[in-house]
Amino acid sequence: MVDVEPVEAGFKRAMRQLAGGVAVIASGNGDRRRGLTATAVCSLSSTPARLLVCVNKSAEAHDVIAGTRCFSVNILGDDQQALAERFAALDGSKGAIRFAGERWSELVTGAPVLNSAIAVFDCELDAELPTETHTVYIGRVVKTMCDDAGMPLVYHQRQFCAPIPLGKPHLATG
Ligand SMILES: Cc1cc2nc3c(=O)[nH]c(=O)nc-3n(C[C@H](O)[C@H](O)[C@H](O)COP(=O)(O)O)c2cc1C
Repeated sequence: MVDVEPVEAGFKRAMRQLAGGVAVIASGNGDRRRGLTATAVCSLSSTPARLLVCVNKSAEAHDVIAGTRCFSVNILGDDQQALAERFAALDGSKGAIRFAGERWSELVTGAPVLNSAIAVFDCELDAELPTETHTVYIGRVVKTMCDDAGMPLVYHQRQFCAPIPLGKPHLATG
């Protein structure tokens, strides 16, 4: 293992081993819809149902979430790499144009939710924790949708991947 690099470089290198499910965080309405690809999504509690997301202050969606006080988290399937790339600006697209070509709906909060996502969390903004570069947004989940048969898109070592199930755990008996 390499241990001579600056801590920031080492941090990035080590974090690449943390495989993450890929989501699109979306907020706003009509031409003011904004969204970004994110792996910094985490369950906070189930009662009440809450999750947190970490959004760069420079992201277009950052201030829209703060302004509308709601957002959606849309978990992408393993056939949605192109969508992940678009919402990460890897195709150069910005603004509401990223939402074109897909079906979006509204559930409870009015945030746009992606019909083809394998799971959707519709959230009211509950709390926000600003840091130097990112804001941690805590969402109170008011509605979910889920496709149990869907397989998630995963990001690992700067590549999009599809998970390979290893089967049920072999529990020790004794
Ligand atoms: C796989 C992947 C995961 C990402 N995760 C996050 C994240 O959790 N939070 C974040 O702020 N940006 C994340 N980004 C970067 C944003 O998607 C990207 O900077 C996006 O362009 C920001 O939106 P903007 O173009 O509207 O500024 C991620 C990018 C990729 C490719």
